[in-house]
Amino acid sequence: RGTAAERTDLTGRHVVVSAGGTREPLDPVRFLGNRSSGKQGFALARTAAARGARVTLVAANSELPGPAGVDVVRVGTAAQLREAVLEAAADADAVVMAAAVADFRPAAYAEGKIKKRKDAEPEPLELVRNPDILAELSTDRARAGQIVVGFAAETDDVLANGRAKLARKRCDLLVVNEVGEGKTFGAEENEAVVLGADGSETAVPYGPKDVLSDKVWDLVALRFP
Ligand code: CTP
Ligand code: CA
Repeated sequence: RGTAAERTDLTGRHVVVSAGGTREPLDPVRFLGNRSSGKQGFALARTAAARGARVTLVAANSELPGPAGVDVVRVGTAAQLREAVLEAAADADAVVMAAAVADFRPAAYAEGKIKKRKDAEPEPLELVRNPDILAELSTDRARAGQIVVGFAAETDDVLANGRAKLARKRCDLLVVNEVGEGKTFGAEENEAVVLGADGSETAVPYGPKDVLSDKVWDLVALRFP
């Protein structure tokens, strides 16, 4: 095996990567969102393309430019991300959900801008759950042998939380990051443990997101039927 630049082990494969963070609109000017920059998902797309894959990158609200040679689908909400990922996954060999998907969305969308009412307290914000795209992809595989990968940012008992999440989501691999105080969100570097449904555990030391991405593709490629 050569360096990443000369590897072509993903040639002939179609991989789908989701990136960024979804935004759930409240009214025409406001949304519920998160701080995901999209850097990890874009790094996954770039490294897969460099290894010969055909790549569909479903990017939610990321400012980053589309990597060369990657098919980029830009989306806003979790519902839009779900639709784009499920469509692209139909003929994919692997799907990697690196996007930060909003767990909830406002129950109602106000067509006009929400106004303050004079001297009145605000209405409580009612939320409803978004579908779990990763669990859906894992449970109803679009193709036999399709490899599904999730990401999880955890605090506290990071590995135990990760194992429980992997089992709940039924994905093949779960990339677990520890978050807190400036870690991961918007950072150039990342540290992770990749948990496998087969019980495997691969530690990836603190380093560039491209290195973690290549490790993820190594673990994916090992699992291709
Ligand atoms: N995910 C998804 N659809 C959702 C929420 C999350 O596909 N509605 C995916 C993310 O893209 C990620 C993985 O699930 O790959 C784990 O996300 P995470 O937020 O850690 O998992 P949750 O099940 O939402 O658990 P938590 O309550 O810890 O947020
Ligand atoms: Ca969540």
